[in-house]
Amino acid sequence: MVSYADAETLPARNTGQIRLYGPESFAGMRAACQLTARCLDELAALVKPGVTTQQIDDFVFAFGMDHGAMPATLNYRGYTKSSCTSINHVVCHGIPDDKPLREGDIVNIDVTYIVDGWHGDSSRMYPVGQIKRAAERLLEVTHECLMLGVAAVKPGARTGAIGAAIQTFAERQRCSVVRDFCGHGVGRLFHDAPNILHYGSAHEGIEMRPGMIFTIEPMINLGRPHVKVLADGWTAVTRDRSLSAQYEHTVGVTPTGCEVFTLSPAGLDRPGLPA
Ligand code: MF3
Ligand code: CO
Ligand code: CO
Repeated sequence: MVSYADAETLPARNTGQIRLYGPESFAGMRAACQLTARCLDELAALVKPGVTTQQIDDFVFAFGMDHGAMPATLNYRGYTKSSCTSINHVVCHGIPDDKPLREGDIVNIDVTYIVDGWHGDSSRMYPVGQIKRAAERLLEVTHECLMLGVAAVKPGARTGAIGAAIQTFAERQRCSVVRDFCGHGVGRLFHDAPNILHYGSAHEGIEMRPGMIFTIEPMINLGRPHVKVLADGWTAVTRDRSLSAQYEHTVGVTPTGCEVFTLSPAGLDRPGLPA
């Protein structure tokens, strides 16, 4: 049973109810999300062969501190880094470490800053030097999946329309959609109701309403959709070791469609890919 309530009247924990946010909340989310987008813009120049994911994480932490923002992942459920860095067959939640990136790698960098209590959650794929054509095609397909999901957001439609748009395109491109992780409501909480599935059909899920805020963050594999989580308790990898990609936006539902809070101010939404 789904119910909706003004965001301010709900307790500060995920009770499964869907929060509806007003203009002041939208302004707060815009500011947090734009800081995250600016960090992801800056990272485009940093990602190169030889750079470690720990150096990337150090940048994300310092950029946050410089702008009065806390990385939401820091000490979140025992996670100890400011970002997630997911390389090649890592699907999501890769932990930054001292291993250097190598020419031909693809890496997802996922950043969430908290600004004035609002969470701005976004990720992009970064090619490391020259990448293979198959990898480039996966990045193009995955970004297109994200934007087709975004285009499905409008009041009156169900959240299943997002998943349907993503799954239909991904599978038509002979790629697969990861089922084990989903998008999520976001705002004053990092992970809130509703879940946003990246597969399914348009009549499933809850009806979207103006004022809802959530992420869309499809994980798309070149091979099969199945994943496993490594012994560190975080790193999710494809079981068949095929390449995986992910892009993430935070969006707010408007009367006519949606506002994409995490769009790149520099036009770097797909770093390293032809415009
Ligand atoms: N930013 C991720 C998301 O898109 C969540 C990372 S949680 C962490 O929802 F603990 F793994 F960092
Ligand atoms: Co997210
Ligand atoms: Co994220």
